[in-house]
Amino acid sequence: MNGTAARIVGPVAWAVPGLIVIQAAMVAQTLYGSGSLIAVHGSTGNLTFLLAVVVLALAWRARRSGPALLLAFTTVLLLFAQTGLGYLGHRNGLTLASSVHVTLGVLVMGVSAAAAMRIASER
Ligand code: HEM
Repeated sequence: MNGTAARIVGPVAWAVPGLIVIQAAMVAQTLYGSGSLIAVHGSTGNLTFLLAVVVLALAWRARRSGPALLLAFTTVLLLFAQTGLGYLGHRNGLTLASSVHVTLGVLVMGVSAAAAMRIASER
């Protein structure tokens, strides 16, 4: 299991920033294209959060370093807040939540990419 975790943790970690880019594209399509993809965006958000939890578990199992685990843990925390702000903004019409949500999306993109880079580069 240790070997499996070490083999798959890098690609799984890179899937998180990959999904975030896809989520930004869905919002762009919703705002400037035809038809709303916001429900799919929300479901993909839940999937992204779950994947970040899996990445943290795999990174711990694969004995990644403290900084790598810290970045993976920070990604989980930020995505938890991101999902909550997304629902607050969209379902309760709280515009402040939506505005923080978009900004936090950019921040969590950077943190998750840094986590993936660190996790994938360690052996
Ligand atoms: C740069 C990336 C992102 C942008 C620009 C963005 C933007 C948005 C916007 C504009 C909304 C609708 C808000 C409103 O109508 O007031 C929304 C909703 C939402 N977002 Fe994001 N988002 C991003 C990334 C994410 C991520 C990474 C997650 C979670 C991991 C997420 C989860 C959600 C959820 C759960 C909703 C509510 C969907 C619903 O009510 O069905 N978003 N997002």
